[in-house]
Amino acid sequence: MKSVVLLGPPGAGKGTQATGIAEKYHILHISTGDIFRANVKEGTPLGIKAKEYMDKGLLVPDELVCDLVEDRVTKDDCKNGYLLDGFPRTVFQAEHFDAFLKKNGQSLSCVVDIEVDEKILLPRMIGRRVCRSCGKPYHVDTMPPKKEGVCDVCGGEVYQRADDCEETVLNRFKVYKDQTSPLIEYYKKSGVLGEINGAQDVDKVFNDICALLGE
Ligand code: AP5
Ligand code: MG
Ligand code: ZN
Repeated sequence: MKSVVLLGPPGAGKGTQATGIAEKYHILHISTGDIFRANVKEGTPLGIKAKEYMDKGLLVPDELVCDLVEDRVTKDDCKNGYLLDGFPRTVFQAEHFDAFLKKNGQSLSCVVDIEVDEKILLPRMIGRRVCRSCGKPYHVDTMPPKKEGVCDVCGGEVYQRADDCEETVLNRFKVYKDQTSPLIEYYKKSGVLGEINGAQDVDKVFNDICALLGE
């Protein structure tokens, strides 16, 4: 069983890489951001709470996140493994998840840290569009869908995320630095961290991640 975490700042390319990695290794892609956005769209109680934080570029409180992910990875479709995109985001979440894994006699296979300089990230974020149905990321200049506004993969509507305006993006960078980047040290200490240069072409980043994850 492969259990992988994709770590990295907003716009690093976690979502972009996740689909290919999940396919190659036959593991399930779990994006907490996508789960929250789906709940916002459906207007569920979780979505209503999460939206308050997401719109400001803040993290959703830990207690709304941990059980959600731990329940999700226990489902049958995760038997072969899973790829966590956007979780854990705080040391609390990482410790909570480690305790959960330990209780089940498991541990993480690898934490892939995708590193990209903030100067490169801002234009990526401002020009990003995503599919409302399957979450696939696009970019207006560098990776537009074949047909404007329509997802290549599922035909869903391609839109701009509410938290991709410049002011919110800058806040998300700050939140990443303060609350999420300490996880790099955390996972380095446990010996599962692999670092990837995310400023390269999408294909090159993919190959580097695969080299790290092995067969
Ligand atoms: P989430 O959806 O996880 O957003 P994020 O971490 O900010 O990351 P992004 O999705 O913005 O970036 P990405 O790395 O996936 O980049 P992408 O591949 O799209 O979280 C959103 C919100 O939900 C949070 O702010 C928080 O409120 C809440 N939340 C979620 N999880 C939580 C948790 N665990 N705890 C608490 N709150 C949580 O790529 C970006 C752009 O760059 C695209 O346009 C793409 O085409 C382009 N691109 C990608 N790779 C390359 C490349 N190599 N070269 C050139 N362009 C590229
Ligand atoms: Mg993403
Ligand atoms: Zn789609």
